[in-house]
Amino acid sequence: MNILAIETSCDETSTAVVSNGINVKSVVVSSQVNLHAKFFGVVPELASRAHIDNINIVLEQSLEEANINFNNFNDQIDAIAYTVGPGLIGALLVGEMVAKSLSYAYKKPLIPINHLEGHIYSTVLTNHLLTPPFLSLVISGGHTSIILIRKLGIYELIGETRDDAVGEAFDKVAKMLGLTYPGGPIIDLMAKTGNPAAIHFPRPYLKGSFDFSFSGIKTAVLNYIKKYPIKSDKTLNDICASFNQAIVDTLCFKTFQVAEKFNIKQIVLGGGVSANSLVRQSFIALGKKHNIKVFIPSFDYCTDNAAIIACAAYIKQQISGMKYTLDQCQSKANLKLINWI
Ligand code: KG4
Ligand code: ZN
Repeated sequence: MNILAIETSCDETSTAVVSNGINVKSVVVSSQVNLHAKFFGVVPELASRAHIDNINIVLEQSLEEANINFNNFNDQIDAIAYTVGPGLIGALLVGEMVAKSLSYAYKKPLIPINHLEGHIYSTVLTNHLLTPPFLSLVISGGHTSIILIRKLGIYELIGETRDDAVGEAFDKVAKMLGLTYPGGPIIDLMAKTGNPAAIHFPRPYLKGSFDFSFSGIKTAVLNYIKKYPIKSDKTLNDICASFNQAIVDTLCFKTFQVAEKFNIKQIVLGGGVSANSLVRQSFIALGKKHNIKVFIPSFDYCTDNAAIIACAAYIKQQISGMKYTLDQCQSKANLKLINWI
């Protein structure tokens, strides 16, 4: 079964053709990062306009790479999937309109996908097997959530951030440090040559809750640089390494605590921050120590792209079929995870 998927929830315009949920025939991502870099965050109006400018180019390229054109489209594509939320509403609507137009013109079923579901199932593209029960840790620019999945498509939200998403904390700290946007990749890189024990930033473990809070670490970095202005690359690298370590310690502590409490033996990472080197090393090492299998998407599938949406759509249609109500197909900026059955 070939699914054409469209992802436009934030600042990446992406389309992909994926066969049977795992065989990626093409995935094209047009990033708007340069457009938003000077603002150190995504500007919604600019994002929507850029999606409109880019979507046809991206779509044509991904169809061409999959050897599909508008003549053989009918035979080659079985369904159209798209991100229906959460995200920036103007950006989501661009993907929804393209998906609905193709669905109408070629009489193909639509599969609306929650963006978080893309990240939750993204490791399937890398590991090819994901059997519940498992804990999903979604760590991105917009989310930090621990979700317990005992059955595919049935979600129990165990913990989420009370303030900044973890990727947002990386982006804001990078801005404070005078680094580039997005902040995660550059902090990850600079942390490699810094000393993670140089500065003790707080670990907000929030006893008695499985929620996260990252604004305290962020403020601690701000207070530190006000008190000790950065005078050398070494200090900058040490701040990056110490901040990175505080974040990763917090993510690991909470996730493994939840795994122990619910006796879950599989942890699945997803979202842009799962590209972080220390996140990857630490989860793998702790997984070995606690005898818990850790699944991490390959780098290409950590950040936003349409292949992860196609993958989630394939799994979803196997469970819920291909018929969705008008309401389910309407983009919603604050869409929550909704159980499939
Ligand atoms: O999943 P994603 O592409 O978009 C959302 O759904 O939000 O994640 C983007 C976020 C950004 O905040 C970016 O700074 C962060 O992922 N990120 C990283 C790394 N690569 C991307 N954070 C830490 N380390 C990285 N290597
Ligand atoms: Zn995302």
